[in-house]
Amino acid sequence: LTVVSAPTVVILAAGQGTRMKSSVPKVLHPICGRPMILWPVAAALEAGAARVVVVDDPSRKLESVLPEGVTSAVQEQPRGTGDAVRAAAALIDPDAPVVVLAGDVPLITPAAIAELVAAHAAGGAAATMATMELEDPSGYGRVIRGADGAVERVVETKVAGDATPAELKIREVNTGVLAFDGRALLDALDGLDTDNAQGELYLPDVLPVLRAAGSRVGAHVLADPRLMLGVNDRVDLATVTGHAQQRINEAHMRAGVTFLDSASSVVDAGVEIGRDTVIEPFTCLRGTTRIGEDCRIGPSSTLIDSELGRGVTIRHTYADGALVEDGANVGPFAYLRPGATLRAKAKVGTFVEVKNAIIGANSKVPHLSYVGDADVGEDSNLGAGTITVNYDGRRKHRTTIGRNVRGGSDTMFIAPVTVGDGAWTAAGSVITQDIPPGALGVARARQHNVEGYVERRSREQEEQS
Ligand code: UD1
Ligand code: MG
Repeated sequence: LTVVSAPTVVILAAGQGTRMKSSVPKVLHPICGRPMILWPVAAALEAGAARVVVVDDPSRKLESVLPEGVTSAVQEQPRGTGDAVRAAAALIDPDAPVVVLAGDVPLITPAAIAELVAAHAAGGAAATMATMELEDPSGYGRVIRGADGAVERVVETKVAGDATPAELKIREVNTGVLAFDGRALLDALDGLDTDNAQGELYLPDVLPVLRAAGSRVGAHVLADPRLMLGVNDRVDLATVTGHAQQRINEAHMRAGVTFLDSASSVVDAGVEIGRDTVIEPFTCLRGTTRIGEDCRIGPSSTLIDSELGRGVTIRHTYADGALVEDGANVGPFAYLRPGATLRAKAKVGTFVEVKNAIIGANSKVPHLSYVGDADVGEDSNLGAGTITVNYDGRRKHRTTIGRNVRGGSDTMFIAPVTVGDGAWTAAGSVITQDIPPGALGVARARQHNVEGYVERRSREQEEQS
């Protein structure tokens, strides 16, 4: 039995990412809602790394997203992946294995890291490179194996000049993920030079240095190349995001969630969904959204940072920062904005916008309404076209509506205003004064009918022509 000590994991992320053509650092581009760099960081932590070191550039832009317990090192200039590892040298334990990951190879799993570490320990090599065979290997470093099949070196292809036409035909590539003996790596880094097409210190060049020193270099060929696709441009970003999304959705399906069309369902990493919930097509679940059991979401709904209880129905809806409790019913075509709180079995229907407002249990706002900065008690019903007039041009005010209230259609509540329990409003009312409990508030002009008006009017028009 070999006891494998926990590895130091060094994640390279100080490159410029020029091919992204972006003002945002490459590894801060989100993949399924989570900055790219946090994908390999999470995998390393889950794989039981003794220490995780992220190599950043001097702007230290990554620091703000890195979790507690992850160390960063600074590479002063982007002089290549070998130089980037060198920037972390002081944090590398010479007596433990080292795993080098790339910040732009985000789909790596904890299992893949553990397998590489195990293969490295079993092979007794000073370095073990994870490799994969690709249909289209363009842009990757190609693995050159000797007559005996052992890895000799890697030849880079990012710019012309390093690889020969014959080498470009090789389909086995360096994934950018390698395991080393700490001490062997630290020694070999001193043997790198910049004698190559990019004038950089290439990390894979430590392999021939190790071989020259009499050490063995191994390769661990990955069965599933999707795990180690690199992101160099936005086409790669889209490909990798697709795989990440599939992984997320499949994990939910295995945990008891039904997707009617997984391919059109966008679910961020970290979203929680309860059992027997059904996700209908064209649905986006983002940020910190948490959904209970037995819900039905979609089609065409977006939930951002929202929390749903169990048995909630949401159709054709956009919700951001909403809390929707058990059995509530939303949409089709509702807009829930931050602070919208729907208590159990509340209903918010078609073309209704709710912001910073509580809709009490069993209460209904079924059609064409705006409810903002309001508290609505239980068992109330606000008719079609209800508006809480919350803004006087300078400040926002609250509307307080009691329980069991019946608001007539087209009622405007001019806030601040309070409506007592059991009160009613007449349709078309502009409510500017509080309504006591049980009262009817009528605030509209009385109708008067002008008898014979139509006939008189057409007679006048005939006389004029
Ligand atoms: C690298 C490998 C290539 C491999 C590919 C896999 C080298 C020289 N080449 O190429 O063999 O097939 O990854 O995806 O290692 N970085 C730094 N500092 C630097 C340069 C890069 O921290 O000075 C970081 C980048 O931020 C990135 C990673 O290292 O996260 C890889 O750099 P990149 O420029 O993308 O290398 P590739 O050309 O993709
Ligand atoms: Mg790359």
